[in-house]
Amino acid sequence: MKALLLGTLLLALGYLITLSVTRTPENNQPQHEATVLVKGEQLYNKNCLACHQEDGSGVPGMYPPLRNNPHVTGKQDTVIKVILKGQKGPLMVNGQYYNAEMAAYNHLSNEEIAAVATYIRQNFGNEAGPITAGEVQQLRDTIGG
Ligand code: HEC
Repeated sequence: MKALLLGTLLLALGYLITLSVTRTPENNQPQHEATVLVKGEQLYNKNCLACHQEDGSGVPGMYPPLRNNPHVTGKQDTVIKVILKGQKGPLMVNGQYYNAEMAAYNHLSNEEIAAVATYIRQNFGNEAGPITAGEVQQLRDTIGG
């Protein structure tokens, strides 16, 4: 009897350990903030850094800065839209004129767009709120991309 009880306990313990090791965040669950920023940085380095530069300062007259730029730290929708749809045409940032084109990055997943958008809103001295995968999906539903 004792052995049976012990066996059951061990089984239960094994199950719990397996659960805690194999559990991964589901797509629709909020991810841990630090994880999001690490992921965001990796995505930024791979997809955005070449133009917007490592410190987010851009290239005056060619690529707008992402640091100290009210379009980046303003409404969440603005940044998500640029990533989903790209952006073209005349643009003023802090008195500097830009007239170029950025491609859409809508091949990135909702989680990836949320991570890179959160990264640019919270780095380079920026201090804006995070963006969630749910917000990205909402915009895909309304504007496409
Ligand atoms: C090939 C160069 C290039 C790459 C790579 C690039 N961008 Fe851009 N980005 C631009 C240009 C050029 C503009 C401005 C377009 C215009 O004149 O309207 C821009 C505009 C933006 C804006 C809007 C700025 C504003 O003030 O309205 C954001 C936000 C942005 N990019 C984020 C990103 C992110 C995030 C990535 C990576 C996923 C990225 N960009 C990759 C060239 C690039």
